[in-house]
Amino acid sequence: MAGTVTDPTAAGPTDATAPEWWRTAVIYQIYPRSFSDANGDGIGDLAGITRRLPALADLGIDAIWLSPFYPSPQRDAGYDVADYCGVDPLFGTLDDFDRMLSEAHARGIRVIVDLVPNHTSSAHPWFEAALAAGPGSVERARYIFRDGRGENGELPPNNWQSVFDGPAWTRVTEEDGQPGQWYLHLFDSSQPDLDWENPWVREQFQGILRFWLDRGVDGFRVDVAHGMIKAPGLPDYTPPAEAGSMGGGTATLEPGMSGEPEDAPPYWGQEGVHEIFREWRRVLDEYPGERILAAEAWVEPLAKVAKWVRPDEMHQSFNFPYLETPWQAKPLRQVIDESLAAFSSVGAPSTWVLSNHDVVRHGSRLAVTADNLQGHGLGPRSKGLPDPEVGLRRARAASALMLALPGSSYIYQGEELGLPEVIHLPDEARQDPTWFRSNGERYGRDGSRVPIPWEADAPSYGFGPGSASWLPQPEEWATFARDAEDGEPDSTLELYKLALRLRREHGLGAGTLHWLDGFGDDVLAFQNGDVTVVANTGEASVALPEGEVLLSSAPGTHRTLPGDTTVWLARR
Ligand code: NOJ
Ligand code: CA
Repeated sequence: MAGTVTDPTAAGPTDATAPEWWRTAVIYQIYPRSFSDANGDGIGDLAGITRRLPALADLGIDAIWLSPFYPSPQRDAGYDVADYCGVDPLFGTLDDFDRMLSEAHARGIRVIVDLVPNHTSSAHPWFEAALAAGPGSVERARYIFRDGRGENGELPPNNWQSVFDGPAWTRVTEEDGQPGQWYLHLFDSSQPDLDWENPWVREQFQGILRFWLDRGVDGFRVDVAHGMIKAPGLPDYTPPAEAGSMGGGTATLEPGMSGEPEDAPPYWGQEGVHEIFREWRRVLDEYPGERILAAEAWVEPLAKVAKWVRPDEMHQSFNFPYLETPWQAKPLRQVIDESLAAFSSVGAPSTWVLSNHDVVRHGSRLAVTADNLQGHGLGPRSKGLPDPEVGLRRARAASALMLALPGSSYIYQGEELGLPEVIHLPDEARQDPTWFRSNGERYGRDGSRVPIPWEADAPSYGFGPGSASWLPQPEEWATFARDAEDGEPDSTLELYKLALRLRREHGLGAGTLHWLDGFGDDVLAFQNGDVTVVANTGEASVALPEGEVLLSSAPGTHRTLPGDTTVWLARR
C-alpha cells in the first residue's frame, strides 16, 4: 500500500495497477465529528483524521469518504452547508484539508468528500439574500418559495412532510413584518431546498465540483441524490402508512413503489435528476485519474437504483435494500441476486453497506426483536432491544459475508471494532433534529454517532487528548478500543483486517458469485473464485465442506459451522 504520490491532482499510487479502482474498493466512512479530535474541544477534526491515517492504512481500506466538514451552523451535523468551498473552523482549515488529502494519497488511500446539493443551510448567503430580496426576485427563484394556500396564504402550499417530522414548509416574515411566502425544506427548517430547475443553481455546483476536483479529491458522495428534482406543480402526496423513514428519515424505500416514474413520490426519484448527474459526469471525466460520484439514492426496487449508475451518470449508488435486509438466508440471497443483476445490467459494480451515520449500527440492528423503522433509532423506551452478544455475533457474520461479495463495500467508522448502537444516551445529550422535530418520539441517529474509542485507558478513550466528547461515550467501551483489539486474534478489528487482506489476495471484489446449495434453509453458501463462503443465519450448526478455514467470524470454527457465523474456506 505504501506509495509516493505527492501531486494532489493524482488519484493515488495504485492507479496504474488498478484501473477502475472503485469497482472493487472498500470505502471507509469517516464521520469527522466523531472520528478523532486533535485539539481537545470534544469534536473530531481534520488534523485528527490525518493523525489516524496510519491506523486506516493498517486496516487495509482503499478509500475514505468524509461526511461534511464545511462551514455550517451544524443544525444537522454539517448537512446544512453555509459555504461549499470552505472548512468549518470546528474541523480546521483548508490547509488542514490539503495536508490530510496529500497524506492519504501518499498512503494509497483515496478521498471522497460529501456534496450536499439538495439544500443549503438557511445561513447560506444565497438564502439570506433570498429572504431579503422578497417575492418574485431572482434570489428567491434559487429556492422553492411559494405562496401559501388558504384565504390569507396561512396554509402550506402542499401537504408534504419533512423527513425529520413535521411539515416540509416554513413561512417567512417579509420585510414589512407581515407573514409572507413559504419555503420548502424536505429536511430541517434550517435546510431550504434549492430549485434545481434553475440554471443558475446548476452553474454554481459545477464550480463547486471543480473547486474540490482541483484540490485533488477522488470523488463525491452525493447527498439526497434522489430528491433534487420535484414533480411539476408540487402535488400533494401521502406516503403509504407502512413506509419507513430512512436514514433518520432520509428516506424513501416506500413499499409499493413500482419503480416507474409515475409511482414515485413527487419529491423522490424524479426523472429530471439524471440529467444533472450526466452534466456532472462530464465535468469529472475532464480530470485525470478516476474521480467518482456515489449516489445516496433511497429508492426501490434495485432496478430503479441502477438508473443512477448508467454509464454516463454516477459510478456507484449505495445499496440500501441490502442494508435493510434482515439477517435471514432467503431474503439475503434474494437481495444479493437482485443487486448483482440490477447493477450489472448497466455495467456498474454492485455496492454493499451495513451501517452508516443515519441508521442503527448493525452491531445492534441485526438483533432487534421488534419492528424498528429506519430513522426512529433506538433508545431506552424502544421495543425489542437487542441482546448485545447476539448483535455482535451477527454483525461479525454479516460483515464477513458482505466483504466476500463481488463489488465495492462501504464500512462505517467503528464497525471494524464491533461497536453497537449507543441506546442509553441521556435525553439531554441528544442532538439529532429528528429528536426535536418529533418531540422525542423518534430517537433519531445520535446512537450511531458517538465518538469512537481508540485507547482503552485514555480519557475519551483516546478520541481526543482530554475527556471532552460531544456525545457521551458508554462506560463499557474500553473493550472496543482499537488498542485493546489490535493484535488480538479473535477481535473484530483483526477479523476485518484479515477479511480485507484475503479479499485483496483472492480478488473477491472482482470475482463472480456462484451459489452452492444443499446446506439447508438458513444457510447462504457460494463460491467466489477460489474461496467458498458459508454463512449460517440460523441457530442449528451445519456441517462444513472440506477445505482449510481461511477466516471465521466465530473463533474456533473447524468442521461444523455454528449459528450466526460465516466462514471462508479455501477450495480444495
Ligand atoms: C442524508 C444524510 O446522510 C443525512 O445525515 C442528512 O441528515 C440528510 N441527508 C439531509 O442532508
Ligand atoms: Ca476538535
